[in-house]
Amino acid sequence: MARVALGITGGIGAYKAVEVARGLQKRGHDVVAVMTRNARRFVGPVTLEAITRHPVVTSQWTAGTNADIEHISLASSIDLLLVAPATANILGKFAGGIADDFLSALYLATAAPVLVAPAMNSNMLEHPAVRQNIGTLEARGVLFVEPGVGYLACGWTGKGRLAEPDDIAEAADRLLRGSRSLEGRRVLVTAGPTFEDLDPVRFIGNRSSGRMGFAVAREAARRGALVTLVAGPTSIDPPPNAELVRVRSAAEMHEAVMTRLESADIVVMAAAVADYAPESKDDRKPAKADQGLTVTLRRTPDILAGIGAWRVARGSARPVLVGFAAETDDAVNKGRKKLASKRADFVAVNDVLEPGAGFEVETNVVTLVGPDWEEALPLQPKSSVAAAILDRAERLLGPQAGGAA
Ligand code: CTP
Repeated sequence: MARVALGITGGIGAYKAVEVARGLQKRGHDVVAVMTRNARRFVGPVTLEAITRHPVVTSQWTAGTNADIEHISLASSIDLLLVAPATANILGKFAGGIADDFLSALYLATAAPVLVAPAMNSNMLEHPAVRQNIGTLEARGVLFVEPGVGYLACGWTGKGRLAEPDDIAEAADRLLRGSRSLEGRRVLVTAGPTFEDLDPVRFIGNRSSGRMGFAVAREAARRGALVTLVAGPTSIDPPPNAELVRVRSAAEMHEAVMTRLESADIVVMAAAVADYAPESKDDRKPAKADQGLTVTLRRTPDILAGIGAWRVARGSARPVLVGFAAETDDAVNKGRKKLASKRADFVAVNDVLEPGAGFEVETNVVTLVGPDWEEALPLQPKSSVAAAILDRAERLLGPQAGGAA
């Protein structure tokens, strides 16, 4: 049985928190409800107190709350902080580190995983300020249960409804159960673009941000894996809990990956590796001439295909090998061809032109394609895509030698 702090904030979906609490209890967990001032306008603390059989925390100023600094003692005793529903306001406070009430202070004080189920009007959800806050929280490892599409209390129809209470309880339960499922495993992840230098100033690169690979690395580390993250040049911060190997070019990434293959249980090639690099690099910056410029490019090593061939040569099924395929048309068919030619176990295919997919966004639309199966994932945060990829990879990995899961 795990202990879950259920944070409830002031949205119309607050009444559904009662069902979320029930769902958690049905799955065997102990729930302590933490309500913000506005949540209490929508649902009474007495209801939650009766359901959870614990006093509901409503304020850090309640008499008795400070005897043992409750937000600190609760912070260290919980296995999960779940916020459902989460308003735009609480996301902003979490992202900005504001601690002006019990729930926001609890978020800062706890080391437990944090799962958030946002609910708000569709325009609010799509507002760049909210998207940015979600992105910031995701980059810190906060996990999300995507809001649903449907009729909203404000009279609109669109995305923003609180996810179904049972789905929220299930996501929380999965998180609590599966939390150390990669304990003792080594996961090697590549992320970001590669830059192929023309001279000391100019290079050929691509638009990959590293977000997808970072999300995989973060999720693998959260599951207890020892993660090595080989990252090309990116401007976003990599997760803190992975060994970071910085590289610049495809050749450097190739070297970094091939020398670490032996010990890897899973390799996820999320990097957007340049296919071509300039044949030669100028040591100085050449001045421009009047005529055009012709640059000769040569092929870079195909790292994923190299690992596939390495496995075949050794007659081994290890490491479990996951590729990506970034396409702009006929994505799944092209992904299937890459799967075969690179001899990976499965590929995560995305059409980068689809709204919500691709490089600079926090979400992705991916179909996982294996030799005789495919799984189309809905539009969801890259953290959820990462979880789905690792769920599949874990299944292929099977039980650990020596018996541990
Ligand atoms: N990849 C790689 N080494 C390269 C190019 C790609 O390891 N030199 C990997 C990527 O990390 C990804 C997969 O191969 O996991 C597919 O990458 P993608 O760019 O979609 O395909 P390409 O193999 O480059 O094929 P094309 O450009 O023809 O679509």
